Amino acid sequence: MKAVVFDKTGGPEVMKIVEVPKPEVKPGTVLIKVRAAGINFADTLFRQGQYVMQPQLPDTPGLEGAGEIEAVGAGVTNLRPGQRVAALGSKMYAEYAIAPATQVIPIPDSISFEQAAAFPVQVLTAWHMLHTSHDTRPGQTVLVHSAAGGVGIVAVQIAKAAGARVIGTVSSDSKAAIAKEYGADDVINYATKDFAVEANRLTGGRGVDLILDAVGATTFDKGLTCLAPFGHLILYGRSGGPPAALNLFRLFEKSTKVSGFVLYTVAAVPDVMRRGIEDSLKLITEGKVKLLIGKSFPLAQAAEAHKFIESRQSTGKLVLIP
Ligand SMILES: NC(=O)c1ccc[n+]([C@@H]2O[C@H](COP(=O)([O-])OP(=O)(O)OC[C@H]3O[C@@H](n4cnc5c(N)ncnc54)[C@H](OP(=O)(O)O)[C@@H]3O)[C@@H](O)[C@H]2O)c1
Repeated sequence: MKAVVFDKTGGPEVMKIVEVPKPEVKPGTVLIKVRAAGINFADTLFRQGQYVMQPQLPDTPGLEGAGEIEAVGAGVTNLRPGQRVAALGSKMYAEYAIAPATQVIPIPDSISFEQAAAFPVQVLTAWHMLHTSHDTRPGQTVLVHSAAGGVGIVAVQIAKAAGARVIGTVSSDSKAAIAKEYGADDVINYATKDFAVEANRLTGGRGVDLILDAVGATTFDKGLTCLAPFGHLILYGRSGGPPAALNLFRLFEKSTKVSGFVLYTVAAVPDVMRRGIEDSLKLITEGKVKLLIGKSFPLAQAAEAHKFIESRQSTGKLVLIP
């Protein structure tokens, strides 16, 4: 089968498409014929050896994908060959991939494989930050950084569905238009304006109740200055570089809190994982969350896809089609 492989860490050019043996299904796992693999910003860090998990060279990127189950391993009783699924796994930039059965999500026929590949990482990350790490409710104001990006555009919609007012930040006017189209009440271009000053102005000086921050270096410290009393900042990534160390006494000023989020924590708690899957699939089938596929690339163009997400030009979800 064909797979994207890199045998040294580095820039997008280290990834090549090569012939490798088809993986064999093991107990507790399923073999998936991949129809669409999701691209995540995390894949670019993995390729550079800067992600929480280190590549085992030669390695294949890909944390999520969608397709049909080709075979189920011993002990898997709730899934069957032929079923349409999305999955959290590894080495998904390939024609076939293995995923643990506990991380395989059957998908309704109304959701395309491309949309399904956009679901496991970005939708569940947005849902769990808003509803597991935080209790997002009507009357709250949520500030979503990179609001036209993969996680961002979904977070905007899930926060709106929960009844919150949503302020998005983006780095261009064309992205601002997209974030608005997907429901953001206000959008700030943080390349040209100080987002904290704007967020304080837009909330009459009160500040926002929740900030979803995966940019880090340029946003974290400033975010603390536009939190409302008892506000909450969730740090879940560092696309703009790691933030400076936090002086905890900053949190005394308005009784605020900062927390971290990573989806792996949720994936290890099946009940919590299931709650997020059920509610977010409901939001999608009800049309309250629309999955924006920003661009599809053939598998052989994984390097171009990585260049695109790193360039800050991309919007919504990028997918690879084997
Ligand atoms: N903790 C978790 O479990 C988890 C799960 C999924 C994703 N994440 C994190 O969430 C973030 C978004 O992931 P995604 O896959 O949905 O990607 P994405 O948002 O589609 O793309 C990354 C975005 O980061 C913003 N950005 C800010 N500074 C940047 C810089 N210096 N270089 C490149 N991009 C920059 C850009 O938006 P603007 O141009 O609008 O600023 C860019 O579009 C990433 O940091 C990712 O690691 C974390």
